[in-house]
Amino acid sequence: MSISANIFREVLSHWASGVTVVTSRAGERVQGMTVSAFCSVSLEPPLILVCAARDTITHSLIQSSKAFCVSLLGEDQQELSNRFASKKHEHRRFAGLQCEDGRSGCPRIPGAIAWLDCRVSQEIEAGDHVVYIGDVIDAAASSDAPLVYFKGSYRRLT
Ligand SMILES: Cc1cc2nc3c(=O)[nH]c(=O)nc-3n(C[C@H](O)[C@H](O)[C@H](O)COP(=O)(O)O)c2cc1C
Repeated sequence: MSISANIFREVLSHWASGVTVVTSRAGERVQGMTVSAFCSVSLEPPLILVCAARDTITHSLIQSSKAFCVSLLGEDQQELSNRFASKKHEHRRFAGLQCEDGRSGCPRIPGAIAWLDCRVSQEIEAGDHVVYIGDVIDAAASSDAPLVYFKGSYRRLT
């Protein structure tokens, strides 16, 4: 017997996470979305994972390009988190952003406190999501504070 979707969501909302934007580029097509399902997997080799819903555009681009970039948002980037999550802005998410492309060809979100540029090493179908394990081919971080997501709201560490 499985638990109800409401209880599942409520329990998961008690997990405090950072907020990322995961981007991908396939030919001329570029897309990115807000993702909290991100974590480290392995130090040697350096691997991370993100979970992407199958019905997202970003997932379809990662699947064809086999590459993605994870930008960790800073505490002042709540607007970007909302923009990259909203279907209303689906085709205008990068408007006004001066993104640089990483070695994978995927854009990095300006002002992010850290980023990891990845090539897909494994993809695992898991329910309505796909788990993408990424080989980290390039990464950098600043000392700025992160945006935090907890119980459906944005928070700051300070
Ligand atoms: C705080 C937050 C965290 C999210 N985390 C995820 C996630 O881990 N995986 C996912 O597939 N969608 C996640 N979403 C939802 C996507 O950002 C949203 O469905 C987006 O519109 C998908 O964009 P796309 O279809 O243009 O790629 C999250 C949204 C928010 C606000």
